[in-house]
Amino acid sequence: MTSQRIASSFLLCALLALCALPAAATEKQQAVLIVAFGTSVEQARVAYEQVEKQVTAAFPDRKVVWGWSARTLLKKTDPPRLTPQQALAELAAEGIKSVDVLSLHVIPGAEYADLERTVRAFEGLPKGLTRIRLAPPLLHNTESLHAAAKALLRANPHAEDEALLFVGHGSRRAGVYYPALQYYLHSLDPKAFVGCVEGDPDFDAVLKSLKAGSIRKVRLAPLMTVAGDHALNDLFGPEKTSWLERLQIAGIKVETSIKGLGEDPAFVTLWLEGLKTAAEKK
Ligand code: CO
Repeated sequence: MTSQRIASSFLLCALLALCALPAAATEKQQAVLIVAFGTSVEQARVAYEQVEKQVTAAFPDRKVVWGWSARTLLKKTDPPRLTPQQALAELAAEGIKSVDVLSLHVIPGAEYADLERTVRAFEGLPKGLTRIRLAPPLLHNTESLHAAAKALLRANPHAEDEALLFVGHGSRRAGVYYPALQYYLHSLDPKAFVGCVEGDPDFDAVLKSLKAGSIRKVRLAPLMTVAGDHALNDLFGPEKTSWLERLQIAGIKVETSIKGLGEDPAFVTLWLEGLKTAAEKK
């Protein structure tokens, strides 16, 4: 390339950049960062697609990006995913000033606590984002427990002789939300039960309740954002240790509903409402 051509192409670039500036400035000053655990299960991502669709519709003028907290999964996907930290750093580097963080967690467990720390760290940076707000997880106070209980029942109509069993991940830090949800579900429908893969109420506790209620048939559904690894293996897997198999061994008939909460617009709406409340507070 001659120096003249270099100079003219440089000029062209500079002009293009100038023309692009006002549009970019008015366009995407704000962003929504959606944070999920992530999943290695391809078909489970329909939940994430539903979430992105609703977030984009709710915030048409904002840039929408993702952060996955499961570090081991990040490089296994194509294209590779970012952690919430990396996503926030990229947004700040792009000149975005305001970010709302939508967490797709079910309870305020260890993953959510990590995210809170990340958000606080970015809040304090002198030249970065000027505003960053974090939405609460699906279950976080009495109203949210009540709303989630109602949404679960609405999404899972059941026959008179059938009980509902929602199984979540479980947590040492915030495991109390599962029995709490059980309470609100029970007050609306005495045939709705909650269990946990890792935590209380565990399988034995749930089975005891089912037996006490003389229940012979349940509809088993994950209380998880995506129907990923835990749902497909721990709940519905073919091994004798899965909830499906153990219920059947105990003489209980099982219908399955293999859908993540994120696939249902009603739950995404609840997460988005949490984001709106967080935005009003700040
Ligand atoms: Co797990």
